Amino acid sequence: MFFERPKSGERAILVHMEMAAEADQESPRELEELALSAGADPIEMLTGSRNKPSPKYFIGSGKLDELKQLVHKHEATLVIFNHAMSPAQERNVETELECRVLDRTGLILDIFAKRARTHEGKLQVELAQLEHMSTRLVRGWTHLDREKGGIGLRGPGEKQLETDRRLLRERVKTIHKRLQKVRTQREQGRKARARAEVPTLALVGYTNAGKSSIFNKITTADVYAADQLFATLDPTLRKIELADVGSAILIDTVGFIRHLPHKLVESFRATLQETVEATLLLHVIDCYDEERAQNITEVHEVLMEIGAEDVPVLQIYNKMDLLEGRSARIDYDSEGKPQRVWLSAVSGEGIDLMFKAITELLSEDLIVEVIKVAPQYGQLRSLLFAKGAVVSESVDEDGSMLLDVRVQRKDLLQMLTRVGMPTEPYRIVEVY
Ligand code: GTP
Repeated sequence: MFFERPKSGERAILVHMEMAAEADQESPRELEELALSAGADPIEMLTGSRNKPSPKYFIGSGKLDELKQLVHKHEATLVIFNHAMSPAQERNVETELECRVLDRTGLILDIFAKRARTHEGKLQVELAQLEHMSTRLVRGWTHLDREKGGIGLRGPGEKQLETDRRLLRERVKTIHKRLQKVRTQREQGRKARARAEVPTLALVGYTNAGKSSIFNKITTADVYAADQLFATLDPTLRKIELADVGSAILIDTVGFIRHLPHKLVESFRATLQETVEATLLLHVIDCYDEERAQNITEVHEVLMEIGAEDVPVLQIYNKMDLLEGRSARIDYDSEGKPQRVWLSAVSGEGIDLMFKAITELLSEDLIVEVIKVAPQYGQLRSLLFAKGAVVSESVDEDGSMLLDVRVQRKDLLQMLTRVGMPTEPYRIVEVY
């Protein structure tokens, strides 16, 4: 690795400025949560307001003095800004404070790095980190190390820097190549699932909404669910069984976050790709969060951005246990379709209702019937068998086939067209 990451429990001072020119502000509370997620120990938050960032230190010189005093007072080793800073601003503040400075992008990248679980996720994070750090490379080899003194800790000089830049470029190239390979494999897996016609349910939602907790409750899989943001970075897949629907794949996805650095959005596009191809999205919402409405909007925007706006959505209002007088229930829309389920992943109350709503949504297009087919249509029987859609079969007194099927309506229509059968070739004998 070319750079250090904060160690657990680093004493950190947080800096949040209200920026008059920005309509869409970051939240100070979220900064604190992010810092905790990164494993830092936030001691105090310095706040203030500005019209626009100062080019040299981002904050004004008065605030910089205040910050310096706070760092000394608390013996802090890290200062985290709730803003994107230029490499020069970061470096200047570091020099003044003699303390490491992290901007919001660096902080988010660090959290992503800690949480990445799959090979692909790790590669994506490293790539984004290298790209972010390449503009800041000079920092690690200048004042801070030089001040420590000692052999091998002096500034590297231009030659060393050039070597490091070259190594960095090489590493970026290797990661790109590896990522391509991992993506091809992932693509193959996805195609295999699509061929098998298994419905896919993707848990999406703002970070910390409770996706992993729900995922765990459903699959009892050992997915990391902690009181930290981004406990989930990579999609995790599990096969589940749904009554009346059969097997389905459940996917846990990365949590969304407002103002995600653009580079990162691109890096995680592949991760979110699963979402675009899902049969149903389970949009998990923390119903206790004051910023619930904004978070919902944010998730919608990202879904539109990645082209998943046409995938049906079931809203999951989680953490119902934190609201008084709420009990688990399904809200239906005007067409009688399940729209929202209120539940608690922690107590487990309402999880059964979620399954009920999912089944109602998925089985709408599922034909679970015994169909009667005239003997000359043997090809239809073969096609149904090939699809694995026949549960059992018998022969009627008149020699017709009685097929107990479980098949998607669209697939059955396709088969009928393929064998050139009339629109109503079968007669329903029994409906379950
Ligand atoms: P990211 O991985 O960051 O996207 O988060 P996530 O959406 O997967 O959230 P996670 O399941 O990690 O839950 C976040 C926090 O919320 C954890 O501390 C959970 O214990 C808590 N939590 C989840 N569900 C509930 C719930 O139903 N009630 C309460 N009270 N807390 C919950």
